[in-house]
Amino acid sequence: NAAVALVPAAGRGERLGFGIPKALVPVRGAPLLLHAVRGLLSAGRVRHVVVAAPAEALEQVSSLLSGLPVDVVAGGSDRTESVGLALRHALAVVPGARIALVHDAARAFTPPEVVARVVDAVAAGARAVVPVLPMADTVKLVDADGVVLGTPDRAALRVVQTPQGFDVETLVTAHRSGLSATDDAGLVEALGVPVNTVDGHPNAMKVTTPHDLAVAEKVLVEGL
Ligand code: CTP
Ligand code: MG
Repeated sequence: NAAVALVPAAGRGERLGFGIPKALVPVRGAPLLLHAVRGLLSAGRVRHVVVAAPAEALEQVSSLLSGLPVDVVAGGSDRTESVGLALRHALAVVPGARIALVHDAARAFTPPEVVARVVDAVAAGARAVVPVLPMADTVKLVDADGVVLGTPDRAALRVVQTPQGFDVETLVTAHRSGLSATDDAGLVEALGVPVNTVDGHPNAMKVTTPHDLAVAEKVLVEGL
């Protein structure tokens, strides 16, 4: 039941503001991408990883990950396109794969147990699985002017993380739809396929801003 993992890592990291792709920003001596790939592999359920890297950093990313069961391809202009390109490559190099994970390089400190939960849920028959956390904050729906339209029931809301897991056919169909979404489960939902949830973990937070990076440094050094 080993899975293939697709890692979109081709973003610019504009909000982090380091002037280099976010995947290459070092935390405790290793780039975020290396932390992310090591975490995926250490769960013991991923056989091969395909990274979508910034086109101008292909060689740098390849040498960073050399010696690991990882292929590197050039990413696209948005996350959906980067995942699609990695997926196409994965289908060619691991044609027998039944389970595909999609994992943001920016969620570099995702505990291996989250990876395992997602893979195991797909192996048990779910077509799509996302790791989630309950909402701590109350959430408002607003209009274009920022005026509040309503307050969804917080108890029914979840924050969604990665890796997201899919049976390969479902992910391929979702990406062939030509739609774009901020996560892959969003594409699958549009097909009308049920998406299941498993418990995520606070350490699977996405590193987006300098504040997030400071939190991540702390998580890695001291544990949380
Ligand atoms: N990503 C990608 N290809 C893109 C855009 C994003 O592979 N064209 C990846 C990023 O590298 C990241 C994940 O998708 O691992 C989530 O995106 P985000 O957190 O927005 O990262 P960036 O796009 O790099 O950051 P920013 O939006 O601040 O520029
Ligand atoms: Mg982005």
